Amino acid sequence: MYALARPFLFCLDAERAHDLALTSIEAAYRTGLNPLLAPKPVPLPTRVFGIDFANPVGLAAGLDKNGAHVDALAALGFGFIEVGTTTPRAQEGNPRPRMFRLPEHEAVINRLGFNNGGVDALVRNVERAKFAGPLGINIGKNKDTPNERAVDDYLHCLERVYARASYVTVNISSPNTQGLRDLQEEETLKRFVGTLRERQERLAAQHGARKPMLLKIAPDLGETKLDGIAAVLLAAKIDGLICTNTTIAREAIAGAAHAHEAGGLSGKPLMAKATAVLRGMARRLGNRIPLVGVGGITRGADAAEKFAAGASLVQFYSGLVFRGPALIGDCVEALRARGGETA
Ligand code: FNR
Repeated sequence: MYALARPFLFCLDAERAHDLALTSIEAAYRTGLNPLLAPKPVPLPTRVFGIDFANPVGLAAGLDKNGAHVDALAALGFGFIEVGTTTPRAQEGNPRPRMFRLPEHEAVINRLGFNNGGVDALVRNVERAKFAGPLGINIGKNKDTPNERAVDDYLHCLERVYARASYVTVNISSPNTQGLRDLQEEETLKRFVGTLRERQERLAAQHGARKPMLLKIAPDLGETKLDGIAAVLLAAKIDGLICTNTTIAREAIAGAAHAHEAGGLSGKPLMAKATAVLRGMARRLGNRIPLVGVGGITRGADAAEKFAAGASLVQFYSGLVFRGPALIGDCVEALRARGGETA
């Protein structure tokens, strides 16, 4: 089914194709035609940070920024859905065009810049969702909030989404919000994560339910920076780490059309780099902090490689653009074939 729709979608500007694909997935869900999109994967039950997943293959953040399509996306067979990034106030993001497809590389470049309807709209949307599986909510800061006050934006979002999230992802790795990635600096990160962890424990007591907090990092960090991040995460006893967001590097697509566009590169050319960061963080963190592997998964074997590098869960976004929802089942089957193997 997706093979039929793909040539048509690829004739459109990438952002329009994205909007149309989401509307179509929603329409298929509402009319009961969604089983035609892809067969539902056979369950592969997985338990990570105290949460039960029907399978360990999730949708990465950024596709459903406002949590408006949770049920339709979950019906494709994902074991978990991550919505957002959401910010305290609605914002438009960068001017268009701001999303580009590189089909020959199975890659996307985006500089959306956290376009979203604000955290209150996201909460209203996810309150309406019926999906009973794990829902991650990814939080960020508004563009016009200076880094010195960034933590207030994250605290605001954490408070607002806490009751509705299965886990919360703290995104400090988007390349499209100026200065955001500076929050990954060790000393800044220590204070930042410490403040958020404190609030998380307070909210856990208030709500009588503890929700895991995950940090999402960039793939463009050197070994010393990664050492610093690992030290902070171990000291703060964070619940999980997502490796990685999009890259600002362009080596892997040198000479391609759109290669010069500013923004974050995702999809196949990101696979090696994101997996190297994942493997490096698995070595640093041992099995004390569970890892989510994301970046460049375009076939089942890539999901298995993320597990071999230390992931307990995987996610993808760009792979859905190039492979369609059948990629979910391919990943689940590749992970089932690994059987009881662990990293
Ligand atoms: C993203 N990604 C992303 N990540 C995030 O934490 N918050 C966000 O709002 C977004 N937005 C976003 C938009 C678009 C168009 C893309 C392609 C990606 C990053 C995404 O979640 C993932 O980390 C990377 O894309 C790498 O995975 P894939 O796409 O190679 O599977």
